Amino acid sequence: MKTTTHVLITIAGALLLFTGLVAQENNSVSKDLARTPPMGWNSWNKFACNVSEDMIKSMADAVVKSGMKDAGYQYVNIDDCWQVNRDANGNIVADPQRFPHGMKAVGDYIHSLGLKFGVYSDAGSKTCAGRPGGLGHEYQDAIQYAAWGVDYLKYDWCNTTTEDAKASYANIRAALDASGRPIVLSICEWGTAKPWLWGKEVGGNLWRTTGDIQDRWAGSLKWPDGSCCSNGMLAIVDQQVGLQSYAGPGHWNDPDMLEVGNGGMTDTEYRSHFSLWAILAAPLIAGNDLRDMKQAIHDILTNKEVIAVDQDPLGREGERVWKNGDLEVWAKQLKDGSRAVILLNRGSAAAEVSANWEDLGYPNGVSASVRDLWLHRDLGNFTAKFSGQVASHDVVMVTVKP
Ligand code: GLA
Repeated sequence: MKTTTHVLITIAGALLLFTGLVAQENNSVSKDLARTPPMGWNSWNKFACNVSEDMIKSMADAVVKSGMKDAGYQYVNIDDCWQVNRDANGNIVADPQRFPHGMKAVGDYIHSLGLKFGVYSDAGSKTCAGRPGGLGHEYQDAIQYAAWGVDYLKYDWCNTTTEDAKASYANIRAALDASGRPIVLSICEWGTAKPWLWGKEVGGNLWRTTGDIQDRWAGSLKWPDGSCCSNGMLAIVDQQVGLQSYAGPGHWNDPDMLEVGNGGMTDTEYRSHFSLWAILAAPLIAGNDLRDMKQAIHDILTNKEVIAVDQDPLGREGERVWKNGDLEVWAKQLKDGSRAVILLNRGSAAAEVSANWEDLGYPNGVSASVRDLWLHRDLGNFTAKFSGQVASHDVVMVTVKP
């Protein structure tokens, strides 16, 4: 009898827990966010702490005028340093000199252009630049953000001492949801506690997989203080290998924001950077000065055929399917069954690279049409493989459609 009662109670408990979980999932205000990787702009890579109302508003204007909005870029995100302290009631205070009309005015302006508004904070006591963090103020800040019309929160991991990463991000997601406003949660934990294993479960929409990107082609160097590491673009790419199964609609691996246009790489290298981010289904958050962009950079950031690969509704992250020294083939399955393919040449001399159908998941004998996404040209039908001549540090990016 005792055992039967025990079993019944356990079943009832499990049922309650199950319906609770289902209800939580269905009721969450954030459940429909980021069905494709978020696209937008963020202040950090170019401006660091030099943020202001005027600059952000003019950048939002530039998102529209440059055609970036038409190409799909949506979020205008202010990174670190907009905040200076907390008032007597613990409310977060924006820098009154740099944001004289307050954060709501900035959000209203961004919204008036049909764009969305993002801010930055940190799970610890202070942000990485030493501004007040969110620790202990999560619900209070979430209500404030919602009142300002915030649509996107990047939440960093500096000054967190003994905090548990998963619990901390679950807490800020719960706080954001309790505000009643759907807010994208960008987990910026640098991959230390493997956020790909728990980011989706705690309601993160994207999670950084590595330390910060640096505006250079390759290499992983120790920082001056001996800590690891300053990552060039390809060092970041290499750290994505094996993580592809964790990404999907609503929850993405984030190899960090784009450096395209910031001056540390050649236009060819930036084209490779952008192509690789697209094949990785990475968030496309531009980090350059959009008010002052040369044509080549504009054409990279707004290539709609490459963006369509990133934004493909199947939401598969691509992966490296072949490597031989400096030559690599990357492939991403698309919703219509075709593949986006990158032939990458990391080396210093031009080389021929081939994508074999078998590495793409197609039988050898299949005939497939190939289209070049940078030349915007159909290249014809191929069987068994597609080969291309790839310049140093360049890519050939195609779709292969049986
Ligand atoms: C960390 C993050 C960066 C940026 C800075 C701001 O380094 O990883 O992306 O947000 O903090 O201080």
